[in-house]
Amino acid sequence: SGGSDAAGGGESKALDELVVGFAQVGAESGWRTANTKDIQAAFEDAGIELKFSDAQQKQENQIKAIRSYIQQGVDYIAFSPVVETGWDAVLNEAKAAGIPVILTDRAVDSKDESLYVSFLGSDFVEEGEKAGEWAVEEFADADSVKIVQLEGTTGAAPAIDRAEGFANVIGEDDKFEIVASQTGDFTRAGGLQVMEALLKSNPDIDLVYAHNDDMGLGAIEAIEAAGLVPGVDIKIITVDAVKDGMQALADGKINFIVECSPLLGQQLVDIVKTLNDGGTVEPRIVTEETTFTKEQAIEALPDRQY
Ligand code: AHR
Repeated sequence: SGGSDAAGGGESKALDELVVGFAQVGAESGWRTANTKDIQAAFEDAGIELKFSDAQQKQENQIKAIRSYIQQGVDYIAFSPVVETGWDAVLNEAKAAGIPVILTDRAVDSKDESLYVSFLGSDFVEEGEKAGEWAVEEFADADSVKIVQLEGTTGAAPAIDRAEGFANVIGEDDKFEIVASQTGDFTRAGGLQVMEALLKSNPDIDLVYAHNDDMGLGAIEAIEAAGLVPGVDIKIITVDAVKDGMQALADGKINFIVECSPLLGQQLVDIVKTLNDGGTVEPRIVTEETTFTKEQAIEALPDRQY
């Protein structure tokens, strides 16, 4: 579609006159906390007012927050949708009010791309594929691999896409079997609970694929409580690469981490500034990220910001 010049229809404003409303998912994970801090710091540095709300992982709260930003007449709305579906009504209200919307981190599944100016965030399908590729290599000599998948929040883009990417890769070889796949809601407590229950019904798990570090860290607790050695008896792949995850990787309790960067603040500020100046932005901006083995985690940890 080639971007949009939806600068609110008027002249560009001085930065200290701009108001941006940000509707965050919640504080479910270390990733999310780092993401919130980074966004708040970037707007503060830029001298742009940021109104912030925490939806506590509930879509209805997020819709309320967005409606309140529309009522307050903010210049831009940015949000990270809790789930993919059900946004058209409120996004149409923002459009009718002439307020450009920027999706950060997570996508909506709306067919109408005029409802948002840009989507800034990771390629979650690719993250899932990277996880799958590691599994294929790691288990190259195995005859059968029993996998537990700890899914993110049901209906959230990263949960849907990370499952899809992983399945794309391991699905090519019948020896990989996902024996259980359940949501842990991207939280440590969720990962712990689900893993505790699954260990009882599935004694021979070879691999845990957790959609984020926090659920993987919860799974580690459950595995240790069951008298098994995480990273050895059961291999673990996670996504994010926050400090606690990286430490567990360095300690050999996690075996591989696919990075998902929470540092979206500066790019979000840049989008707002560009639109404010009447410029155009790309409709899709993909975050650059890498993967980490144990050795790479040991090397990266001293400088890890979050
Ligand atoms: O949307 C990004 C995901 O949400 C992160 O991977 C997860 O940790 C967070 O809760």
